[in-house]
Amino acid sequence: MTVQQRIAETRIANLLAWYDEHRRDLPWREAPGGRPDPYRVWLSEIMLQQTTVPAVIPYFHKFTERWPTVQNLAVATLDDVLAAWAGLGYYARARNLHACAVQVADAHGGIFPDDPAALLKLPGIGPYTAAAIAAIVFKIPCMPVDGNIERVVARLDAIETRLPAAKPQIHDAAQRLVATARPGDMAQAMMDLGASLCAPRRTDCDICPLAEGCRARENGNAEQLPVKAPKKARPMRTGAIYWIERNDGAVLIRKRPLSGLLGGMSEFPSTPWIEARAVHSLAAAMPDCVAFHNLECAADAEPVRHIFTHFTLELWPYRVAIPPGTNLVGLLDPGQYRWVHPDKFVQEALPSVMKKVAGQVLIKI
Ligand code: ADE
Repeated sequence: MTVQQRIAETRIANLLAWYDEHRRDLPWREAPGGRPDPYRVWLSEIMLQQTTVPAVIPYFHKFTERWPTVQNLAVATLDDVLAAWAGLGYYARARNLHACAVQVADAHGGIFPDDPAALLKLPGIGPYTAAAIAAIVFKIPCMPVDGNIERVVARLDAIETRLPAAKPQIHDAAQRLVATARPGDMAQAMMDLGASLCAPRRTDCDICPLAEGCRARENGNAEQLPVKAPKKARPMRTGAIYWIERNDGAVLIRKRPLSGLLGGMSEFPSTPWIEARAVHSLAAAMPDCVAFHNLECAADAEPVRHIFTHFTLELWPYRVAIPPGTNLVGLLDPGQYRWVHPDKFVQEALPSVMKKVAGQVLIKI
């Protein structure tokens, strides 16, 4: 055994002993020694991409109560899945989740394949998720590398190369920490360590099971690692958004195109969101609905602000009351537009930014 292998064996043994005592009790985890359910592990891993554990837990409960098996999820409509996902963000995950459930149900008889290469062919499953499922569910010796694990490994080996250039080096170093006998526990132990004692801006090295031989700890720069790429400035986009209300209180909602940002989600009609000063007009918001273009609008004094990964959005709400007696029959494409009373918004696939718009308009009324 080489010195490097001996160090790795000690790290694995120490971390697994720590995990046995301190593991987080999470709804997708089986009790120690239990058999993880592939459906629950897959669902949790998709939800946990770019999302924190506390944000995921209520959604995980909602999904597993409503759709307890992959077959149940496969026969759900995409609209119902998107509505249940509303608020969790990164909606391509929900579209892929549904497509993956359909594929597992139809092409794999409802059974998740136990081979990472086959998992990788399923919608929404990339190298990280395939390795996480393979290690946790099927006990295949591999190490998924997410942001938490990246951080722990970069610190252990004092990897000072800047991300993303450091990724291959971190990935190789992580593979030395694969625990052949308990690969899933080891991966989750790394995740738990990264979420507790080895957090981004706070370290508790004194009680860390990997403290001995942690090179960043020796160098005193654990909290500076890994070295992140400089943050890009977020551009500002702006637009006008229209709360168009019928005299029975129903509000006009439309569906966004299936691909792209917030794909398949519901929205209030708005102008395009652009970096230049936006054109505020119903004609720009609803070019296909000529009969609405001349309706009277009242502007809110305050915009609704929302931060997306790549830009900040400022939406200026305008309120429009449809004059009583207006004949709306045939004016709107029913495949795209619907009238929905705010009482029913809980069943709608409204993303957080649209919930903010509704909140602002309703609170002010
Ligand atoms: N983050 C991603 N996957 C996780 C898991 N299985 N447990 C805790 N945090 C995670």
